Amino acid sequence: MKKLISWHKNINYLVIKFFGIKFKFKIKELGYAISGENNKILLKENGVTRELKASEKIDGLDIQINGNNNHITLESKHFNNCSMLLQCSNAKIEIGDNCRLNGLHISVACGNFQKVKIGKNTTCFHTEVYLNEENASLEIGKDCMLSGNIVIWTTDGHAIIEKNTNKVINQPIKTVIGEHCWIGYGAHLCKNTNLPNDVIVGARSVVTKAFEDSNVVIAGNPARILKRNVQWERDTATNEIRKRSNAGGCRERKNPSSRLVFNELDD
Ligand SMILES: CC(C)(COP(=O)(O)OP(=O)(O)OC[C@H]1O[C@@H](n2cnc3c(N)ncnc32)[C@H](O)[C@@H]1OP(=O)(O)O)[C@@H](O)C(=O)NCCC(=O)NCCS
Repeated sequence: MKKLISWHKNINYLVIKFFGIKFKFKIKELGYAISGENNKILLKENGVTRELKASEKIDGLDIQINGNNNHITLESKHFNNCSMLLQCSNAKIEIGDNCRLNGLHISVACGNFQKVKIGKNTTCFHTEVYLNEENASLEIGKDCMLSGNIVIWTTDGHAIIEKNTNKVINQPIKTVIGEHCWIGYGAHLCKNTNLPNDVIVGARSVVTKAFEDSNVVIAGNPARILKRNVQWERDTATNEIRKRSNAGGCRERKNPSSRLVFNELDD
């Protein structure tokens, strides 16, 4: 006789068949897939730091670790469709307070001691970060705005050797994005990119080196300085024009550092 009640389970669902009717229940996985020793996920909330319990997960953030002594410190919990995949040891990842991260994917492999630090109030829409070498590092300052489809390679991943001298010529140093930088849609940041504070990177630009000047627009492939003496705001251009006409030439900057900004149009 046919079974009246049967059930089976896969990684996501428990399926129960009851008198020929199927019931599907989503299974909530407990904890992250972590293998190795002394790996820690620390959560900083209201000035208190605690280690995430083995059974806990943060909504919108997947973490997989295979290695030892990796430490992830999260001051923010605003994640949506984000992941951190660590195939390494002694790596450090720090996400600052009040970051709002959508589609941030950090992949760490091919060595140890990698570092990622993202400053407070930074936002991103979809950014892939690769740290595929020993000591590779990425630092993103506070108040940055990373648009969609951005790729950051902190290393080349493979060596280039000069034939005459037998020297490796593409060693990564570090990749840095200063405070309050805006990275446009589809930008690709290569190893050793170094942006000072207040830099705007144009859409689909390929950034390949260190820049020294703040308050510039850089764009193109390879990215070069296109405009100087500029700054940006999160609000739309239309709204900023409106605010300026309402404020009669002087307005308070809403953005975190809260400086006074004077309207150049009124000079
Ligand atoms: C970088 C950017 C913000 C600059 O805007 P802007 O100051 O109004 O710049 P302009 O349109 O006056 O362009 C100035 C010059 O830079 C060039 N330029 C602008 N953006 C460029 C880019 N992404 N790549 C290459 N060149 C670019 C223009 O062709 C122009 O060149 P020209 O002087 O030879 O004619 C804008 O072009 C851009 O890339 N916007 C996309 C922002 C984005 O990704 N938003 C998503 C939401 S976060």
